[in-house]
Amino acid sequence: MKKYIVANWKMNQSLLEANNFFKEIESSSADVKVWVSPQSPYWSILLPLAKEKNILLGSQNISEHISGAYTGEVSVQTLKDFNLSFCLVGHSERRQYQQESSALCLKKIKLCLENNITPIYCIGETLDERKSNKTFEVLKRQLIEGLTSVSAEANILIAYEPVWAIGTGETATVSQAQEAHQQIKKVLKEESLLSIEPPVLYGGSVKPENAAELMQVPEINGALVGGASLKARDFSSIIRAAKALAKN
Ligand code: 13P
Repeated sequence: MKKYIVANWKMNQSLLEANNFFKEIESSSADVKVWVSPQSPYWSILLPLAKEKNILLGSQNISEHISGAYTGEVSVQTLKDFNLSFCLVGHSERRQYQQESSALCLKKIKLCLENNITPIYCIGETLDERKSNKTFEVLKRQLIEGLTSVSAEANILIAYEPVWAIGTGETATVSQAQEAHQQIKKVLKEESLLSIEPPVLYGGSVKPENAAELMQVPEINGALVGGASLKARDFSSIIRAAKALAKN
């Protein structure tokens, strides 16, 4: 399976920083797909720069509504107008600060799919849930609630992002990440959720220093990177780690 290295810039990067990033960044390759989700006002400026490196751009969110009086929201049609390729759905920061539920994510996932935008559905447990041994239960619930009634052939990616590892510098150990990814793949099969096995990315303090050991795990099909995606040098080094693994 190909590897996907996805940058989630969140509410970071000035236009100047974003421009410089694309000058320096390592390109996508046949085996390693590089995707970047900047802040939405920059899409049109960054698209041609990304294209030069075979990098696809995406959104960090969309509205669950098609159009209308929803101040501050971005519609899926806007993503299409800008030739965007993917959209993050249900990132834990949106679940936490905007109270997004998996049921709401399902609406967004369906809208993406109907409009040929690849959703990256983000799931993961909090520290309390992990401490009380609820990790597998939480992942299963998020998968079922977010993917029920999604077409079996849907083109979708899953991102496992343990909430306690996001922006904390604390990464899941290789075995913690591997067992979560195995569980995700098992639930998808057992619940007959998607007939085509989706790539499952790991996210949560991925850095140049730990990218290779995480991505050498067969069930980890790439990385969703926050902090370390802001500097072209660090992100390029993660991309090169994936390229080196793809060669073996
Ligand atoms: P960090 O890589 O900064 O931990 O963020 C991960 C993340 O939230 C990616 O979506």
